[in-house]
Amino acid sequence: MLIDNHYRNINYLRLAVTDRCNLRCNYCMPSEGIAFAKKDELMSIEELSKIGELLVQMGIDKIRITGGEPFVRKDLMVLLRNLKNNEGLKELSITTNATLIGPYIDELKELGIKDVNVSMDAINKDTFERITRRDHYDIVYNNLIRLITEGFNVRINFIVLDNQNVQDIIPILELQKRYPVSVRFLEEMPFNGGSKKFNTIKWDYKAIFAHISKAYPSIQLIPSPKTSTSINYKITGHKGNVGIIPSFSRTFCGSCNRLRITALGDVITCLYGPPKINLRDTIRGDSSEYNIKRAIQQVIGNRAATGFEAQKEHKGVFDNSMTSIGG
Ligand code: GTP
Ligand code: SF4
Repeated sequence: MLIDNHYRNINYLRLAVTDRCNLRCNYCMPSEGIAFAKKDELMSIEELSKIGELLVQMGIDKIRITGGEPFVRKDLMVLLRNLKNNEGLKELSITTNATLIGPYIDELKELGIKDVNVSMDAINKDTFERITRRDHYDIVYNNLIRLITEGFNVRINFIVLDNQNVQDIIPILELQKRYPVSVRFLEEMPFNGGSKKFNTIKWDYKAIFAHISKAYPSIQLIPSPKTSTSINYKITGHKGNVGIIPSFSRTFCGSCNRLRITALGDVITCLYGPPKINLRDTIRGDSSEYNIKRAIQQVIGNRAATGFEAQKEHKGVFDNSMTSIGG
């Protein structure tokens, strides 16, 4: 078991496989993109597989693959197959923008990967294209519906952006009315690659809830796992459910069970904090598995108690992008 210095059990690894993305969402990066990593700076599939294996040995039992967009990496399925071979791994899931997942859906099923979170910040095509700066709405929508109807456990992540997609909040709920899918609304976060100034948010979790409950007064709180990022609700008669993630308000740090590793091998012990060590360099050096595990144990033994505390460890303002942290 991996226990941090605040007695939290760390069993959930968010493993980023690339910092690249085929969309250019305006809350994540400027239109020209960011300085993406060179190929040899990214961890290889073998390195990612090894890190997964070591961490599962240490007590990680849930791995979520993130990016960038994981499916821009052509060799992703090889990694998923390798990770699936770890006996102690109970859950392997993916967060994706659903633009490129189509050709892999059958193989994912065959591998037993059921949990797919889809980032989709609009249900209206124009809103979608304005935010993502790309015209991939139809493919995303079709892949989303295919995932749901083929039995995947799908959660839609919708970041609420003032003056951009608020008008889509109620219409996107139609999806969970008709389908067994969870539609989760997230607070905006400051990791925008310097694309805009970020001080505070208007649409915090309370404002989001107030907006939804005005349209659906029958909305009811439902129980959630202790480590859930989302507060979850059900609307009477709807097939799916609704979630709200206080990602900026950070109300769930007390039960945080997450460790992040970026595509470049940086170990991030809190989403809001700076990287602590680089595992790619450690793994490419002559370090033994024992030393790698010890380095991980050390950083887990030194975690900030909350995202607010971790934020103070940054020297300047946030200038990193969600696509390089892995979300
Ligand atoms: P499940 O495994 O389905 O519970 O999903 P998840 O919420 O852990 O993963 P997902 O990739 O869907 O995360 C969606 C969003 O939740 C992220 O983009 C963040 O905004 C937020 N989030 C996830 N983990 C954390 C966290 O540790 N801290 C904070 N502040 N936000 C987080
Ligand atoms: Fe964990 Fe940091 Fe997220 Fe809080 S903000 S839940 S401490 S990763």
